[in-house]
Amino acid sequence: MAEPGKVGVAVVGCGTVGGGVCALLTRDGRTLAQRTGRQIELRHVVDVDFTRAKALGLDASLLRTSLDDALNDPQTAIVCELVGGTTFAKALIERALRAGKHVVTANKALLAHHGPELYALARERGVSIAFEASCAGGIPIIRALLDGLLANRIDALYGIVNGTCNSILTAMTQRGQSYADALQDAQRLGLAEADPTLDVGGGDSAHKLAILAALAFGQRIDLDAIPTEGIDRLQLRDLQYGQELGYVIKLLAIAQQREDGLSLRVRPVFIHRDHPLAWVSGPFNAVSVYGHAVGHTMYYGRGAGASPTASAVVADIASIALGTYPRLFTDLPLFPDRAEQATQLPLAAVQSRYYLRFSVEDKPGVLGQITTELGSQGISISSVLQHEPPDGSGDDAGVPVVVTTARAMEGNVRTALAALDGLGAIKGPTVCLGIVDEHEEELS
Ligand code: HSE
Repeated sequence: MAEPGKVGVAVVGCGTVGGGVCALLTRDGRTLAQRTGRQIELRHVVDVDFTRAKALGLDASLLRTSLDDALNDPQTAIVCELVGGTTFAKALIERALRAGKHVVTANKALLAHHGPELYALARERGVSIAFEASCAGGIPIIRALLDGLLANRIDALYGIVNGTCNSILTAMTQRGQSYADALQDAQRLGLAEADPTLDVGGGDSAHKLAILAALAFGQRIDLDAIPTEGIDRLQLRDLQYGQELGYVIKLLAIAQQREDGLSLRVRPVFIHRDHPLAWVSGPFNAVSVYGHAVGHTMYYGRGAGASPTASAVVADIASIALGTYPRLFTDLPLFPDRAEQATQLPLAAVQSRYYLRFSVEDKPGVLGQITTELGSQGISISSVLQHEPPDGSGDDAGVPVVVTTARAMEGNVRTALAALDGLGAIKGPTVCLGIVDEHEEELS
């Protein structure tokens, strides 16, 4: 039996985040005890490679290669899964839950794919799964949704939730680097993985959006039905035209509750330079949440890194030790294993403004064809930008014409572009990026 006021913890996976958690629990244990009134004790560090554990100076008596020691230890109430991945980690969490341990995890991919079944298993065993660190690193956004914002009907959520992408886009915007150069620099600085696909392809943001939207709207989300586009096909010149028009590019995870369903998407979009999310630069993350009572709230901080992520993991540990989180997990109907399946709207139903860059043959009447086709789909033009080519003529690739539109249905925009791209005077596939205006508060 555990001693009253004392809570044992096992950390499984002593890599970057696991090492950060071990460091915070051991180095700052006294602060944690003062702030929580609980003795939170690191009792097991489970891994196969203890390089980081040794570098941190962790006591050798804590290090184990088998999870069994932690699962069989009645003094250990909490198992932190910090190995990542979706196969081994899932089996590990299931074993911990079956052994009656609470689980803390930062594993967004696992929860986005398998959250509901794992939450259901936890309930069956009378324990909880806490996952503050899975979304936006050290920002307590899950706690905000499950606690501070509970009085609200959530209308929309907009997040910059991937620091790798935000670093690359910031470098492209502020330093005029190409995507390839900015990615290479981010990799050199440790801001991007050697294989950056999950980050730059938007998949990581989609995982986080699936988790956040489920809690924000109290609905079950189908990850595979979230339209996801990354930053890897962006061209510097579009960012520069956007800047000329007053916009900056951001990879946004967007969730909007509409009368006909939930519109979810991850994609690079332009936001005006005065938009509240526009100044979020480099590896930082931010999430804007709009509630009907509170209006706009915004949460900002570091989305990755050992110490910020450990801050969120240890907050979960503390909340479990205090009994606060298990109570929320047990009582709130917001978790997706208890919620209705969301009606997720297709991309064609998105309503937005758009940035379109056409590459056109430099001859009379082409602009007229563009405006006529857009007009026939009910799309109103907000601005047209064309620079005179330096030598007075275009090249084989055509001359760029940038058009921004008023609010339109994406399906109509795609229909117009398909028709225009079939015309001889339009040279290449047209670049189409959304322009996201600041969400209007609907206070009531
Ligand atoms: N790879 C993520 C990012 C951090 O770049 O924000 C972990 O979710």
